[in-house]
Amino acid sequence: MSDGRQGRFITLEGGEGAGKSTQIGRLTAWLEGRGHAVKATREPGGAPGAEMIRKLLVEGPVERWDGTTEALLHFAARREHLRSTVWPALKKGSWVVSDRFADSTMAYQGYGHGADRAMLGELYDIAVGDFRPDLTLILDLPVDVGLARAAARRGTETRYESLPVAFHERVRAGFLDIAAADPERCVVIDATQGIDAIAAAIGDAVTKKLKA
Ligand SMILES: Nc1ncnc2c1ncn2[C@@H]1O[C@H](COP(=O)(O)OP(=O)(O)O)[C@@H](O)[C@H]1O
Ligand SMILES: [Mg+2]
Repeated sequence: MSDGRQGRFITLEGGEGAGKSTQIGRLTAWLEGRGHAVKATREPGGAPGAEMIRKLLVEGPVERWDGTTEALLHFAARREHLRSTVWPALKKGSWVVSDRFADSTMAYQGYGHGADRAMLGELYDIAVGDFRPDLTLILDLPVDVGLARAAARRGTETRYESLPVAFHERVRAGFLDIAAADPERCVVIDATQGIDAIAAAIGDAVTKKLKA
């Protein structure tokens, strides 16, 4: 709102095809309808330099990077995204909604690829510092359902989708672990529901946690 209050930072997380991009659009419209200025953004990317790094991460062969190199690239992109896009928007009083953030690095590179989770926490401290999302919505659904949805909208960004099902199962379990460890910040949403029901559940969570 234009009452001088700092904006809020909301992140959407979950596996491939969970509906994150769909729900970012719904949430943006819902918040705007409540009178908030909203900046919708995404990771990796969300700023010109970060989008250049995104191309390195989401295209090309699976074996291109190991988990640690991938994590370094993600945090480099993330710092640029925060500096150029997220922090300036919050400072202006906008709400910022991001399609993925740091929990994806922990779930994909940590739980999925087996990169050292303590190392990922240290990278977070270096690249991001004390800053945390005000609310993280984790869209949870069975891996086969998500991959089928993602395959139906197939484009060029298929590097993660082409990893084995067992990898995606570890990612899903990782997101649920992250949510269980940080229940103040995270809300798990059943993403097997229809688009409208998920949007309503997200609206409820935002109202409850952030008094939107
Ligand atoms: N709740 C839903 N039920 C069925 N299909 C959905 C739902 N949400 C999104 N989809 C469809 O599934 C595909 C993946 O959704 P998307 O929002 O791109 O997921 P993500 O960004 O999490 O990978 C899209 O084709 C989208 O239209
Ligand atoms: Mg998406």
